[in-house]
Order: sequence, then C-alpha cells, then structure tokens
Amino acid sequence: MGYARVCAVGLVGLAGHLVTVEADLSAGLPGLTLSGLPDTALHEARDRVRAAMVNSGEAWPNRRIIVNLLPATLPKHGSSFDLAIALALLVGAGRLPQTALDGVVVLGELGLDGTVRAVRGVLPAMVAAQREGVRRFIVPTANLAEAALVPDVTVHGTDALHQVIRFIRDGEPLAAPAAPPPVPEAVGLDLADVAGQSRGRRALEVAAAGGHHLLLHGPPGAGKTMLAQRLPTILPPLTDAQALEVTAVRSIAGQLAPTATLVRQPPFEAPHHSATAAALVGGGSGLARPGALSLAHNGVLFLDEAPEFSSRVLDALRQPLEEGRISLARSRGATVYPARVQLVLAANPCPCANAAGECQCSRVAKRRYLNRLSGPLLDRIDLRVTLFPIKPAQLFAEGDEIETSATVAQRVAQARAVAADRWAAEGWATNSAVPGAALRRRPWRLPVAATRDLMRALDRGALSARGHDRVLRAAWTLADLAGRASPRAYEVNEAMQLRIGEGAS
Ligand SMILES: Nc1ncnc2c1ncn2[C@@H]1O[C@H](COP(=O)(O)OP(=O)(O)OP(=O)(O)O)[C@@H](O)[C@H]1O
Ligand SMILES: [Mg+2]
Ligand SMILES: [Zn+2]
Repeated sequence: MGYARVCAVGLVGLAGHLVTVEADLSAGLPGLTLSGLPDTALHEARDRVRAAMVNSGEAWPNRRIIVNLLPATLPKHGSSFDLAIALALLVGAGRLPQTALDGVVVLGELGLDGTVRAVRGVLPAMVAAQREGVRRFIVPTANLAEAALVPDVTVHGTDALHQVIRFIRDGEPLAAPAAPPPVPEAVGLDLADVAGQSRGRRALEVAAAGGHHLLLHGPPGAGKTMLAQRLPTILPPLTDAQALEVTAVRSIAGQLAPTATLVRQPPFEAPHHSATAAALVGGGSGLARPGALSLAHNGVLFLDEAPEFSSRVLDALRQPLEEGRISLARSRGATVYPARVQLVLAANPCPCANAAGECQCSRVAKRRYLNRLSGPLLDRIDLRVTLFPIKPAQLFAEGDEIETSATVAQRVAQARAVAADRWAAEGWATNSAVPGAALRRRPWRLPVAATRDLMRALDRGALSARGHDRVLRAAWTLADLAGRASPRAYEVNEAMQLRIGEGAS
C-alpha cells in the first residue's frame, strides 16, 4: 500500500542523533504496531497520535500499520516523535506527498485534541541535525524562539497538526520565527556594590583569574552571598561554543524563556541546601533533566550555607567535579551531561547563624559544623578565605572609588590569557586545572627562595601536601595577575594567606 519516512531527532545527553520514523501501511488486519521506542512511551505515543489525527479531521487509516523508529539501538525518550509519526502515517496513507517532507526534521508532542506542544531540547536537537546537513525544520510554535538561535536553517512553527497538514497540502503558511530580541544588557549586580571586604574581593578576583574553586567563610552579613553572586560579572563572557552548550542544557531542562536568547554570561546556579541529589546532579524519568550542576556548566555553582547540604548530596558532586561531566545511570545506558563548573561554597562559622556577639555555640559545635564539609570536597578548593563583618563606617565610606566589575574583569581576562598561553601545549586552560605534580617538576618548579615560607608551613604541619599544591596553583594565578613571569615569595605567601583561612587546613 504505502511506505513513508519522516525525520526527527533523538537526544542522548546533549548529543542529538537523526531518527527516521518509517511507516508501512498494507492490506491486512487493521492495527498499529510501533517499534523502536521504550515500552511505556510506545503505548502513549500510539494513543496520542491516533486521537490527535482523528480530532484533526483525518480518518484513521483502516490498514495494517507498522511504524518503526530507526536506528533501533538509539535510546529514545519523551514525546517529541509524535508529530513525525502522525505525518509518516498520513504520507503512508497517500494523503500527503512524501516529497514535502524529504530533508525536513519534524519535532513536537501531540495533544489528544491535535495541538502541537512544546518539547524539551529543541536547540541541541536542531544543532545536531543542522550538522548532518538538515536545513528545514517543523517545530512547536512554543519552541520557535530557541529554534531561531540555530543559524542557516528554515524553521516553521506550528500549534496544531491540522496546520501542518494544510501547510503541506495547500501551502498555507506556518509561523516563522520573529527576529531574535536584542540581547538584554547584563542587569543589576556589580562588584561595586560590595563595600570594604578587600580580602573577599581579592579572593574573588583570584578565583576568577585562575578558575579556582572558592570557600567563603565568615559570620552572617559579611557579604559572602553578595560576593559569590558577582563572580559571573568578572568572568570572561562565554565563547560561541560555550554559549551554545549552556543554552542547550537549559533547553533540555525546559528552562529557556519563550524569548530565548543565547546565554552569553557564565551561568550562576545556587541550589538551596535542601536540594536533593537529583536536583543537584540531574535525573528523573524519560529524557533525564540536567541538575543545577549541569545548568552551571561553563559558569558558577554556588552552594550557600554549604555545611547545611546533606553529605550524600555533597558526595554526589565529587566525581563530576573531577571529570567535568556527569553520568546519569539510565535503564538503557548512561546519559552524560556536561558539568565543568567553578564551585563557590559559603559557610558560617557555626550553625546558629547569629551575629558574632550573640553566638553561644561552643568551640566543639563550631568545629563539628565546619567538619561537615571537610574531606574530599574541600580537597578540591584552592582558595579559602575568612571574611569579617564590615564596619558601618565602611558601608558609608566616601572618597575612594570602589572598583567596578568591568575593571576587575579586564585584569581577569588578561591573567587568563597569560595562563592559557603558558599551559596550551599541555592542554590545560586555567591554573586550577594544572595537576599538583606538574607544578613540583621542572620547568615549573619554583626556586627555593620563593617557597621558603611554604616549606616551613609544610614542616610545621600547618599545611598538608595537598594544601601545598593548591598554594602553588593560586600563586601562579597571583603572578599572572601581577604580570610576572612566575611567582616570587611574595605571591607564594599571599597564596598561603588565601588558603589558610580560619577553620581550614
Ligand atoms: N561588604 C558589603 N557591602 C555592602 N553591603 C553589604 C556588605 N556585606 C553585607 N552587606 C549587606 O548585608 C546583606 C547581607 O549580605 P550577605 O547576604 O552577602 O551576607 P552573608 O555573609 O551571605 O550572610 P549570611 O551568612 O547571613 O548568609 C546584603 O544584602 C547587603 O545589604
Ligand atoms: Mg548568605
Ligand atoms: Zn553560633
């Protein structure tokens, strides 16, 4: 009778793969066999497609129907194949010409009434198809804005199956993407809002310049949260490739605003301490949702009140921090999302969160509180600084100009460029990525004169061997910021200061 094929895209993590929806209609016992989808989704898709077709004014073909999604080995999730399945059936039944759909990728979920609903992951799906040479797409109208971010393609938006049918049969136009809205000015936050706190500002700049993880430690109201929130304002803007990745993760998470623009500033994610492991690293059924960790990819993951997070949740971060990606176990293989983040932790010295004067917590209680953080996670943190509350006088101080984010960002960019250049041959982008062993070897080993105090601290036991490596990493960043070819004793000692905060080791 009839055979048809319509293209769609399946996502595995951020990677899209072209999927061919085949339909074969033949004489025989009427019925629909669907293969190539996981069991549950299969039933649901069959029911949705049937109802949607009938409610769009199309009689259900009374044939023996086989629908197959290729390649069979590719895990397929979600409902984004509905529209392609419906169109394949209509072509197979001879009611739409095959040629109208050749070379077109179709994405969209169907409602029982025939409406076409938004799906997650349209951006990474289209990017993958575009790389495979696809130039025409039909997507849900609700996803048109993100679809418009993909260059050099033609996109049609639809709200309903009957619109697509009329588009193909009668040439009735579908919705076109509007011109992308102007990229909004980065609003609000600026480092100039933070008064005093020179130590905290310095630590933030060093963290930004070297890509170091950072722990901000100090009493309530010292400005820990304020500082952390401003880290993205001094980081370099995302490259095109990074911007696309960041926006794609948001697309899969279903978090792109209807007026999506390419995300240009490094993201900042601050999950609450009550967050579950799944919320933090990702999970859920079907097409796994990226967690805060992946939403923070190429940006900042901020754990405010870090000791309040459950240790199970914090443990879940270790491996991905190491690897720069998170692998989520799924029923059919693992889903991998990117997770290259800069981690910022904030911690109060004690659990009561009272101002210093009113705190009644014992020393033991304080120690125990911070110890919740200790161990493997803290091991990854190059910079730990203790902040003190600012004095009212500092808040209202006039006279000296407070540096703005733009000014600091310039120094950060310069230091990053120097470091990137130095390590380029080794494949490391920032100082924080350099393994400790490499810094202890020639040609990067520092002269004795530079490390005398560091060695003393190591001997005294004030610093662990790991701590020693972290000091070296930060010292290189300080040298880069100072425009020096390599760290002197001055930079090494400042790095020690930035490392041996109160309650840290
Ligand atoms: N250095 C500062 N400059 C200007 N305002 C500040 C500063 N520090 C604190 N503030 C004011 O105090 C408020 C609280 O600061 P922030 O939330 O950053 O403190 P925190 O150290 O995170 O405290 P907590 O431990 O209670 O979370 C800020 O919203 C701001 O209004
Ligand atoms: Mg805070
Ligand atoms: Zn207390």
